Amino acid sequence: MKVGGTHYRTIWPHPEREGVVQIIDQRQLPHRFVVEDIGSAEGMATAIRDMHVRGAPLIGAAAAWGLALAASAAASEAAGDWCERLLRAGGRLKATRPTAVNLAWAVDHLLAVAQTCGSADEAWARLRAEARRICDEDVEACAAIGRHGLQLIREISVRKGGVPVNVLTHCNAGWLACVDHGTATAPIYAAHDAGIAVHVWVDETRPRNQGARLTAWELGMHGVPHTLVPDNAGGHLMQHGMVDLCLVGADRVTRRGDAANKIGTYLKALAAADNHVPFYAVLPASSIDWSLADGVREIPIESRAEDEVRFIEGLDADGQVRSVRICPEGTRAANYGFDVTPGRRLAGLVTERGICPASEEGLLSLFPERRAGVVV
Ligand code: MRU
Repeated sequence: MKVGGTHYRTIWPHPEREGVVQIIDQRQLPHRFVVEDIGSAEGMATAIRDMHVRGAPLIGAAAAWGLALAASAAASEAAGDWCERLLRAGGRLKATRPTAVNLAWAVDHLLAVAQTCGSADEAWARLRAEARRICDEDVEACAAIGRHGLQLIREISVRKGGVPVNVLTHCNAGWLACVDHGTATAPIYAAHDAGIAVHVWVDETRPRNQGARLTAWELGMHGVPHTLVPDNAGGHLMQHGMVDLCLVGADRVTRRGDAANKIGTYLKALAAADNHVPFYAVLPASSIDWSLADGVREIPIESRAEDEVRFIEGLDADGQVRSVRICPEGTRAANYGFDVTPGRRLAGLVTERGICPASEEGLLSLFPERRAGVVV
């Protein structure tokens, strides 16, 4: 997507310095646009843990580049057991954030490739190519998601006679959460670009405010009309017919169609069900965990630092970014990063292969190669 007229992805190899990857430091948005150089697997693990990069598809891509950087270091130092070193780096990258399955998926895939390599040099060349491929595939998947999801918005627009379609989204499942385009935002951008009038209700998404800071910023950059709302406004908007469609991302979807997403998503899904508003989770196949069935019981939910809840960051009147405490000193806080919306509460799943019911049969209809006994 474009930032000030220049096309950016969220992660890319440094054009001049081998063994260095560049990212957009999302902690600085929307106040500053800062590109950060990452030169080691440890640096990438920190960037993922501390949310310089975030969003399920992007942390998968970042972990892939992190492992490639570990191979680069092993190749340049040419000492010790390079394979063992990659395994350790993979373990550290995987431990950074537990809920989004894309991260473990990318690390396991690259480690499997590394195991077929005969030297650290070969591993660096092959892992670098794989990291690039994962990024390119994510871009293609998100573009396809946009084309499929566009149909949902188009149908509502036709029904409403061209009056703007109101879409509610939670957190940031935009291009900043992926390599490009976004998941939940891809259909919105596709609709806007196709000349369909669309307006987005942006949940602020406490505690890290990904909606206020990131979704509002990227929709604004693309010229998509949007309104920021406090997290608890969605139910009211839906009761008053002000939401036509909810599109949210997903960090991990089980084979039965249960979807983990940013904390607060489940409450929006309940409000949507009560008000007959279609509520879709939007995701690439890399976010499906075929090994899990019951999302509420089986998906690991990340717990983050209490201070993310106790403090809030913003720009003061003098243009300085400041963090301020919003509760009495010493107040304890709980900071669960995600919740799980059961498949039965979703109108469906939007993927790069199309739209399906949020159920095992639904997913298998799009991914028949996952049926037991099918050989591909
Ligand atoms: O904690 P984050 O910002 O990494 O969480 C990301 C989300 O939960 C997003 O809402 C998103 O839906 C998943 S990534 C497209």
